[in-house]
Amino acid sequence: MPGLEQKKIVLGVSGSIAAYKSVFLLRLLVKAGADVKVIMTKSATMFVSPLTFATLSKHDVLTDIASEEAWNNHVELGLWADLILIAPATAQTIAKMANGLCDNLLTATVLSAKCPIMVSPAMDLDMWHHPSTQRNIEQLITDGVRFIPVGHGELASGLVGDGRLEEPENILEYCKAFFEGENSPLAGKKVLITLGPTVEKIDAVRYISNHSTGKMGAAIIVALINRGAEVTAICGPIDANIILPPEVNVLPVLSADDMYARSIEVYKKGVDIAIFAAAVADYKVQNTSEQKIKKTDDNLSIELTPNPDIAFELGKIKSTKTIHLGFALETNDGMDNAKSKLSKKNFDLVALNHPGADTGFKADTNKVTLLGKDSKVDDIPKSSKKVIAEYIIRRLESFFQ
Ligand code: PMT
Repeated sequence: MPGLEQKKIVLGVSGSIAAYKSVFLLRLLVKAGADVKVIMTKSATMFVSPLTFATLSKHDVLTDIASEEAWNNHVELGLWADLILIAPATAQTIAKMANGLCDNLLTATVLSAKCPIMVSPAMDLDMWHHPSTQRNIEQLITDGVRFIPVGHGELASGLVGDGRLEEPENILEYCKAFFEGENSPLAGKKVLITLGPTVEKIDAVRYISNHSTGKMGAAIIVALINRGAEVTAICGPIDANIILPPEVNVLPVLSADDMYARSIEVYKKGVDIAIFAAAVADYKVQNTSEQKIKKTDDNLSIELTPNPDIAFELGKIKSTKTIHLGFALETNDGMDNAKSKLSKKNFDLVALNHPGADTGFKADTNKVTLLGKDSKVDDIPKSSKKVIAEYIIRRLESFFQ
């Protein structure tokens, strides 16, 4: 099983029942040609003996930061490794990493590492969904740590839900993908993304808009940039606190007409992927007024006329090589409507939002189901938008593998 020849990997094992799976993971990594050194936290040694890892890795396993050997090694290991992979990464280890704490050998090594770091979390579902864990994961992604999504299924507690360690075979694939040509098939791909709301003028001072902040779109942009994609963002007036990465070509727009014109212009120059994350107003005001409309005692009717449907229009001229990802925001019959948008707008993949108090518009978290034109459905657990973006990008990558 080739793919990782001569790669130097530090495998960090923290204290979860899933630590037994790291033994299988270690075997797979070694079989694939990697040279693996294992660091265990103290609590991990309660689940699996260091001797098991030492025997399979053919290296001593380091556990104690206080030992003289380990003390010297935490810097050395961070320099030696091409990748530090932490699997399982517990809520505790993730929290320490997100805050720069280094009270054990693993977190000290992480803090002095010069190489990329990947985490594969494992924990019970309530711990996974806890806002602090989601905040910490989001912080790690912002810090450039690569994140392997958790699985869904039966957990050690007997509960069923999100938080399972990804299967060792799949973690191996993430490692291989990381080392293969600039890590991602999205490297160098030209991506057009629409994001944010549109603003439809009524008169000199009034407009029609919606609650989109651009957070979901911005999270996708960060994930794309991290993979080396060339991104052009056709950007409605997004939340002022959102800072897009400097690498992105940002084209600000206001109305759906502006967004449509800019999108067509960029699209015609050639794109590999088009992502429609904007909440585009379906209607605009038929007769706008340059003056402020005066208040009277009468009712006021404003006639609306349809806006261009950007995704639909680009879907009509799409080549088979281009991948289109759309969103669907539905308050009822979500799956049926998403399916119909998938085919009507010629999407390859649609992300159906499940809007709620802390999902959909505005929130930092979201709940999304991915539906492919191949009928493959992925229910992504409620997570921060940055984490959701990682799931979406992973699915997009599969179109180019
Ligand atoms: O920005 P946030 O606050 O983070 O919120 C994120 C979001 C909820 C806005 C985002 O995740 C999202 O779902 N965006 C699309 C919302 C939407 O307009 O959905 P729709 O079901 O009305 O449209 C379907 C698809 O067609 C969308 O991809 C939309 O961008 C596209 N469309 C719609 C109308 C139109 N005139 N032109 C379009 O391109």
